[in-house]
Parts: sequence; C-alpha cells; structure tokens
Amino acid sequence: MCGIVGYVGERQACPVIIKGLHRLEYRGYDSAGVALVTPDGGLNLYKCKGKVSDLERFLDGKQPTGTIGIGHTRWATHGEPNDVNAHPHFSASGNIALIHNGIIENFRVLKDALVQHGFTFRSSTDSEVLVNLIEYIRDTNGCTLEEAVRMALKQVVGAYAIAVIERGNTSQIIAAKQSSPMAIGIGKGEFFLSSDAASIIDYTQDFVYLGDGEVAVINKNKPLRIMNLGGKESPVDIQKLELSISQLEKGGYPHFMLKEIHEQPDTLVDCIRGRVNPDTREIILSGVLDHREKFLGAGRIIFVACGTSWHASLIGEHLIESMCRIPVEVEYASEFRYRNPIIRKDDVVIAVSQSGETADTLAAVEMARSAGAFVYGICNVVGSSIARATHSGTYIHVGPEIGVASTKAFTGQVTVMAMLALVIGRLKGTLGEDKYHEVAGALLELPQTMKEVLKTADQVADLAKIFTYAHNFIYLGRGYNYPTALEGALKLKEISYIHAEGLPAAEMKHGPIALIDAEMPTVAIATQDHTYEKTLSNIEEIKARGGKIIAIVSKGDRLARRCADYCIEVPVTAECLMPVISSVPLQLLAYYIATYKGRSVDQPRNLAKSVTVE
Ligand code: AGP
Ligand code: GLU
Repeated sequence: MCGIVGYVGERQACPVIIKGLHRLEYRGYDSAGVALVTPDGGLNLYKCKGKVSDLERFLDGKQPTGTIGIGHTRWATHGEPNDVNAHPHFSASGNIALIHNGIIENFRVLKDALVQHGFTFRSSTDSEVLVNLIEYIRDTNGCTLEEAVRMALKQVVGAYAIAVIERGNTSQIIAAKQSSPMAIGIGKGEFFLSSDAASIIDYTQDFVYLGDGEVAVINKNKPLRIMNLGGKESPVDIQKLELSISQLEKGGYPHFMLKEIHEQPDTLVDCIRGRVNPDTREIILSGVLDHREKFLGAGRIIFVACGTSWHASLIGEHLIESMCRIPVEVEYASEFRYRNPIIRKDDVVIAVSQSGETADTLAAVEMARSAGAFVYGICNVVGSSIARATHSGTYIHVGPEIGVASTKAFTGQVTVMAMLALVIGRLKGTLGEDKYHEVAGALLELPQTMKEVLKTADQVADLAKIFTYAHNFIYLGRGYNYPTALEGALKLKEISYIHAEGLPAAEMKHGPIALIDAEMPTVAIATQDHTYEKTLSNIEEIKARGGKIIAIVSKGDRLARRCADYCIEVPVTAECLMPVISSVPLQLLAYYIATYKGRSVDQPRNLAKSVTVE
C-alpha cells in the first residue's frame, strides 16, 4: 500500500507534498517523509514514524525548501514502522532519494549482491535495496539516472510504484510502476505525482496513468516522456478527472466514516442515475448490454473480491442465482489466485473492488483473463487498475471513500449487483416482468428509504453507549442478510478492535451457541423476509441461554420485540435490497462504539484503505 506524492515546478514542493500525503493517508499511516532538492542542488531528507501530522510537527521550524521533491506515507511490509524504515530512502552515498509503494520480492538476493559490492544498509526495508541498486548501476556504468532506473527495474521481481530524485538535479523526477498505481498530474510548467489522482485534484485535472512496466521521465518545462524498461518511448495519453474538492473533505462531520454513512442517500442517487428510468422502470447497464452474449452464454459466474467487497459479492450470488438461474461461486481473490482454479471460457468472472487497486483481486482478474474468461468489474475508483484490466464493467459511482471502513461502497456495490441481476434475468427470461418492475421501483425509492434508516442514528448512538464495554459480539442473519451480518461484524472489528463474528443464524446451534452468556451480545438481523419466523426461533434460543440481543427489525414489527432486549426499526424495501438498508444501523453501531472507545475511526491501527500488496 502506502501513498506517494511528487512535485516539480515553480512552487515550494513541501506544502504541495504534505497536502497530497494527508489525502493519501487512507493508504497507510505508519510513517511519513519528504525529500527535497534545494535550489543549490542539496538533497535534504525529513522523515519520522507516525502520521503525516507527526511529520508536520517534525518539520516545524526546519524550513524545508526546494521546488522539487517526493513524499511518502507508509504501510509497512518489510521492517517495523520506525524513523529509519520511513521513506524516502537515500542511497548509500546520499546522492539519490527514492520512495516506493509495493514489495520487492527478490530484495534478499539483490541485497546480498550489493553487500558483496560494499554497500551498507540503514533500514530493514526492501525499498532501500532498490535505491542502492540504482546507485550501483549508475556508478558502475556511468549512465544517467533514467537509464540506471530502467536497468535496475529489469532485475526486480515484485510490485512497485517508485519516484526517484538526485542531488544536484533541480528539475527531474523519474517515476515507474509495476502493479502499484501511479498517476502523473500535468500543470503549466509543473508536474505532480501521486498514487491516487484525486489527492492532487486541487492543482490539475489532467492526468497520465502510468502503465505496468512503464517509466516516466518528468522534467520541469519539458514534455513528459513515457517509455518501457527498454527505453522505447510511447505516446502520452492525457485523461481528464472530473472531481470536486468538496468530495475529499469532511464537510462538517468529525470523521470521514460518519460523513460517508450519511452521504448514502446521495450516493445511491448517483449510483442509480441514468440506469433506472424513473418513468418506465427500465434498467440500462451498457456494460452488460454491450456484451449480452457473454452473460447469456455464461455457464457460471465467479465473483472475486476481498473484505467488504467479498461480503457484497455473497449478496450478488443470491441475486444472480435467484433472478438469472446461473450458478455462482464467490471466491476470496487471495485464495482463488493461488488455488489453480478451474476457469472455463464460458465463465464470467466479476471482480468487485472499491479501490480497484487491491493486489489480490487484480491478480485474480489477470488470471481469469488469461484463462479466456470474460471479466467484468464492479469498481468505485474511475480509471483504477482493476477497472482498466477488465473487459467491461459498471462503476458504483459513490464518490471517493476515504474512511478505511467501507460503508457507502458496500451499499453501492449491492445496488449495482441488483441492477446487474435484473438486467441479466430479464435478458435470459428467468425473471418475471412483475418482479423486474417491483425491484426496479424499489431501487428508485432506495435513496428515500436510506434517508429513513439514517434517522435511527441517535437511537443507535445511545445503544452503542450500553455496549461499549463488550469484548465480543455475535452478528446473525439469514438469506440476503447473512452477508450483512458478516459485514456488520467486520465493521466492528476493524474500527473498535472488538472481536466480532458473523454467522448464519441457524448455524448457532451447531457450535457457536456455546459462546452465549450474559457477556456476549448478539446483533440479529430479523427483518420480515421469508426466513423471519426461523430467525425469531434462533433469537429465542439465544435468549433462553441468557444472551443479550439487539434486533434489527422491520418497521412496525411486533414479534421480535418480545424476545429482543433492544430493537432498531428499519424501513422496508424489496427483500433482495434489504442489505442496503439493514447494513446502515450496523455501520452506525460500529462507528459509535469505536468513537466511545476513543479509537482512530478513519485510520484504525494496522490497516490501510487500499491493499496493494499480496
Ligand atoms: C472494509 O471495511 C475494508 N477495510 C476492507 O475489507 C476492504 O473491503 C478490502 O480491503 C477490499 O478493498 P477493495 O474493495 O478496495 O478491493
Ligand atoms: N515495502 C515497502 C516498505 O515496507 C513499501 C511498503 C508500502 O507500500 O508502503 O517500506
């Protein structure tokens, strides 16, 4: 993971880099650092353990000057999070500085060889090996930095996005990428670099997205040059990014996560807009319709995803199997890619990823493509690696999600999956017209239903006070809401650090019910669907064993109220869309418990938003 930023132009580079790093902190926040070339050619390094705000404190009074520089916010893979392992890394002579996102898999072999050549290392990172390799190649071959970077990268196995500057050169940055993202922002007489174009949107909307195996030679006041590792140049493709700065700010909320939860009525509007016709209730997903033969001929659909996106995919499985009668499998991308799975030419593989950068999901996409499957993407970040690597796809269009805990992306993913199932089901003739129009109608009302469910926020906040003490939680659901239970448990784990387990309600009696006592609260999703009565029995079984129960119930419910200790009423929508609504009190519960516990909600420990390492 990690976020990297670079700048070369006429402005002071440090404030530009710090601002970009703040926006990239969702990618990692173990340490931060900046390297700058001063106007007289000196190369200065400032770095420390902690967040970007710690780096700012560290820089206080130091007057870092220079109109060219690189910066990094780290999510450690090799070497503990400390000052020395923080990026940028200097080469042994101190003449070259490098920032790196990714993993150099063969770093040990390279390091041993460099040690033989007399190099010493300060850090325990894989990244420092690369900067020394570049220096070694440059010094032994007497070549330029650009050539040395290209030659060094030919020896590297692994994933990287790097940026390199050198002492004495006040106008040039060399950047390169393989499997980790890198965008180059083009200004007038200035260039910006970032792992995520959105982080530098204040300065430009014109971006070049570096491709795998490409190197960029960025010189102030000269045209940008892009080439492969062999030095063969390719045309520069500039793309516009339409994004407003307000989408990247908290808008008065104390945390991005809370803002993103409350944004969901609007993000659902954006997700549905132009896809469900409000007059005819017809659904148009061009990503599907343009490739209808692939879906009509699909022998199987395989979802590949991680984390929250994997939970949404489980809901996708229900939707597609029931509406389209196509067999569906849901795979953890990290397991799929290493299992030598059977992939057939008539399989449709659907990759689901908010960031579009998750390394395991991207690798699964590449594997499916090379096996001849048709690969469809459900991503949020426009132009992301997965979105570009798939044959076709649908964006969820929920805007930048900054909080590490995914919220609006989950509801957007489920909404897109419902539209997808409706479109395919109709094409195949496996879905009746009445059902199609009923769910399409519910989709149109979903933003309003979302507004309603958000009114539970105060009640959930009160409830959270009561349960902040708990050390463990169980989340139960059935049918469409079993994945919702998994998602609720994940939200609580990642931001409050309370252990939580999501289970299909009926599975309790096969073992986990042994965990139940007065200290083990259960959150049960018991909205009125075809498993409602069964879920009530499962709640009774917990009640009988002294467990405390918070039930998420449909508005006006009478029965669940009798056995649950606390009830949160949610508005009703089509059964297959219920996870979009019932997940919201669970998002809020995790949020409030985490804030009462004083946790770092937007940047929980050990995590990063975008997992670009395997
Ligand atoms: C969810 O709250 C997560 N932080 C995490 O599980 C996330 O969903 C997962 O890393 C996948 O990310 P992606 O959707 O960007 O691929
Ligand atoms: N592997 C490098 C490190 O551990 C970079 C990790 C990252 O992408 O943040 O320092």
